[in-house]
Amino acid sequence: MGIQISPSMLASDFANLADEARAVSNADWLHVDVMDNHFVPNLTVGLPVVEALANATSTPLDCHLMIEDPDRWAPGYVEAGAESVTFHVEAATAPVRLARELRAKGARAGLGLRPATPIDPYEDLLPELDMLLVMTVEPGFGGQAFLDMCLPKIRRTRELIAKHGLELWLQVDGGISADTIERCADAGADVFVAGSAVFKADDPNAMVDTLRASAEAASTS
Ligand code: DX5
Ligand code: ZN
Repeated sequence: MGIQISPSMLASDFANLADEARAVSNADWLHVDVMDNHFVPNLTVGLPVVEALANATSTPLDCHLMIEDPDRWAPGYVEAGAESVTFHVEAATAPVRLARELRAKGARAGLGLRPATPIDPYEDLLPELDMLLVMTVEPGFGGQAFLDMCLPKIRRTRELIAKHGLELWLQVDGGISADTIERCADAGADVFVAGSAVFKADDPNAMVDTLRASAEAASTS
């Protein structure tokens, strides 16, 4: 699939989501951060907003659920129109059952890991998934500084994906910018979430192109 860019709508103007989606029309996905004020200390949007955004854009939605009890809530995001739904392993009761349910409903299933959560205990789950999300900040807020300590886990995750011969995508999220994207691409990431870097840029679409070019150069070098 190659390099993909998924701008985080968290850094956009929530009063103009449809316009903001158009401002990043070069992106592969729109990343929507759903927070419940329990799994993370912040509250954002839920099903009605995701459904409205899905109806307002042709770019597929990449929903990142930072919520407790994803077993109960995640399938609803597929029904709301998300083409990719990522839940956190720290919050899921039955990650295999949930990933199968998301796939059966027609979405890509993603599994998210906080910075302190290792990948190795979840090696056996990899065939059940379409994407792994390695958080590169503590989830909850945009605009935080990239955590270099996550790079070995990105590398390790890419090794495990290769070991199993899987087509899994490897997403990074948090502090991704023109300054940090190359390190992540070099370590094996191929889907890049960027909030502030894209939406605070003078030309968000040009920044999407810049990030893509940097990641492509670093992943082939
Ligand atoms: C943080 C969210 C991120 C956030 C990234 O918990 O999951 O998607 O929007 O924002 P930046 O790119 O500004 O770090
Ligand atoms: Zn996110």
